Amino acid sequence: MELHIVSIPGDGIGPEIVAEAKKVLNKVAETYGHTIEWKDILMGGASIDVHGVPLTEEAVEQAKAADAVLMGSIGGDAATSPWYRLPPEKRPEAGLLAIRKALNLFANLRPALLYEELAAACPLKEEISRRGFDLLIMRELTGGLYFGERRTTVEDGVRRAVDTLVYNENEIRRIAVKGFEIARKRKKKVTSVDKANVLDSSRLWRSVVEEVAAQYPDVELSHMLVDNCAMQLVKDPAQFDVILTENMFGDILSDEASMVTGSIGMLPSASLNDTKFGLYEPSHGSAPDIAGQDIANPIATVLSAAMMLRYSFDLDREADAVERAVKKVLQDGYRTADIWSEGCRKVGCRQMGDLLAERIC
Ligand code: IPM
Ligand code: MG
Repeated sequence: MELHIVSIPGDGIGPEIVAEAKKVLNKVAETYGHTIEWKDILMGGASIDVHGVPLTEEAVEQAKAADAVLMGSIGGDAATSPWYRLPPEKRPEAGLLAIRKALNLFANLRPALLYEELAAACPLKEEISRRGFDLLIMRELTGGLYFGERRTTVEDGVRRAVDTLVYNENEIRRIAVKGFEIARKRKKKVTSVDKANVLDSSRLWRSVVEEVAAQYPDVELSHMLVDNCAMQLVKDPAQFDVILTENMFGDILSDEASMVTGSIGMLPSASLNDTKFGLYEPSHGSAPDIAGQDIANPIATVLSAAMMLRYSFDLDREADAVERAVKKVLQDGYRTADIWSEGCRKVGCRQMGDLLAERIC
């Protein structure tokens, strides 16, 4: 098979982790008889430095022409980087929001699971972590507060800011369908998370999710208020299978979910539209404080590449091979600094990439 992949190294540790994920994917291609055509595009701060904007039209067109996009991370240190002296719509994050919208990537899948080998890193009490967990947050990604109208004004000398949270039923329905479809391939449980005791948009969310649920009688649906969900994620994460939620709640809960795994450097994500196209990126950020030191953990990006093989190319065998290599490397005792513990061998980003590629078979 010929795979046309656009890569977005981005900022901070992005270029380092993408290089390792490419190394692993190239090894997969070599082992399984595929060819990959790579094209790099600029986004975020890297694009601002060259073009003055965080995403150009040409970059969007190049991404659209590919089968899938592999991204590292974007953004810098807001306190020190000149990118953050630009108006909000010209900052690195605006590029990410713009590409999600331009490619209609409305479904964001963020799996969070506790690796047996890394259980010691889990910050939860042993009686909770012992039960393990394997959940997936299905976050709506192109609507809600992040895309509603916003403005800041001054009225009678008083500054005032407005953001708007809008959803229509079609936007809710299509993400709910994605949530139920993926639940069917997992433990068949959907927890729909909203704030229906306060927000109209949440009441609509709940009613549309119930309509969709009627088409999936084999999947169990429950509703949970977002504040309660934040609490349940640290109290009893094993209760969850698929958490289906809107854009901002998903943004917040997915950081929490990744933290309770104790290894944010391990968690991949996929952003999908209605076709096979997807953008794949680690759940973590650009970590500018450790950029360029060869100490970042490339595993989340490598696992994002595995999601790409699975969702965009239907190459399940190849995706399994990548996930197996990750397990094997952990079992063999290799760790990057973020997941290192006594008795393990500390390796850098590049060496971790080499070790993973060697284990592709
Ligand atoms: C994420 C990030 C982004 C978001 C930012 C960088 C705009 O936090 O992917 O979770 O809020 O979606
Ligand atoms: Mg976030």
